[in-house]
Amino acid sequence: MSVILDGKQLATERRNQVKDRVEILIEKYHVRPQLVVILIGHDMASETYVSGKEKACRKAGIESRVIRLEESVSENKVMELISSLNQDKSVHGILLQLPIPKQLDPDKLMAAISPEKDVDGFTPTNVWRLASGHPELVPCTPLGIMHILEKYEIGVEGKQCVIIGRSQIVGKPMAQLLLNANGTVTICHSKTRNLPSVAKTADILVVAIGKPKLVDDTYIKEGATVIDVGISRTEGKLVGDVDFEKAVQKAGYITPVPGGVGPMTIACLLENTISCYQKLVGE
Ligand code: GUN
Repeated sequence: MSVILDGKQLATERRNQVKDRVEILIEKYHVRPQLVVILIGHDMASETYVSGKEKACRKAGIESRVIRLEESVSENKVMELISSLNQDKSVHGILLQLPIPKQLDPDKLMAAISPEKDVDGFTPTNVWRLASGHPELVPCTPLGIMHILEKYEIGVEGKQCVIIGRSQIVGKPMAQLLLNANGTVTICHSKTRNLPSVAKTADILVVAIGKPKLVDDTYIKEGATVIDVGISRTEGKLVGDVDFEKAVQKAGYITPVPGGVGPMTIACLLENTISCYQKLVGE
């Protein structure tokens, strides 16, 4: 029988630690940490994620400000906003919620965010730091997954790690983190041949493809660790990229959806915000 990896419980522990730390920091520096989220347009999933982030910040004593911009906003307007937030000393973290409308270049806008306030770890400086093995601010979802593996003492060194999905947000940084931890890493994507048989080589399988219940027991080696990053709503229910009922028969360890990776992403966002704050106040 599989061990269920309880991301929700671990996230609660880590969020409580952030809250305690925030109290100590405010006492010392008389400044409250502040995260600013830029939300452009009206993507429904983004609205949900952003309100989850706001709520978590509030609970941890971090001030959270959401700046909403119209779908039709120009790139110059967003660049100006980012520049003013970079210079604003009361702002410690800046997050540009993705996806953004088509007229805007995500690479250009991300690159405009100060690397010191880059709570997502998406700026070129932080991407390079991770790629070169000296990470500072690391993307929240893969970072949360590494914390889950550590908590349950699932070693990475020497293991076959297969990632399904090559996104900038999850797949690529996940590969870097597993590689930095001495895993042997394979990244699969839409053009990969014989996906189930490649997935089946994995000791650690990370699925971040956005296809509900794609991965069933035929993708999983007996005893493997299965990490499900997907979250979709089908028939009013939240489901992951992994068919949990089938996968649980084969996996040694598995994350549920909801209650697995999702809560850890938010906990890591709070931790990254505090890391930015500490650096900016000179802690
Ligand atoms: N959209 C979906 N996930 C994320 C994330 O982790 N960061 C940002 N900025 N946008 C997202």
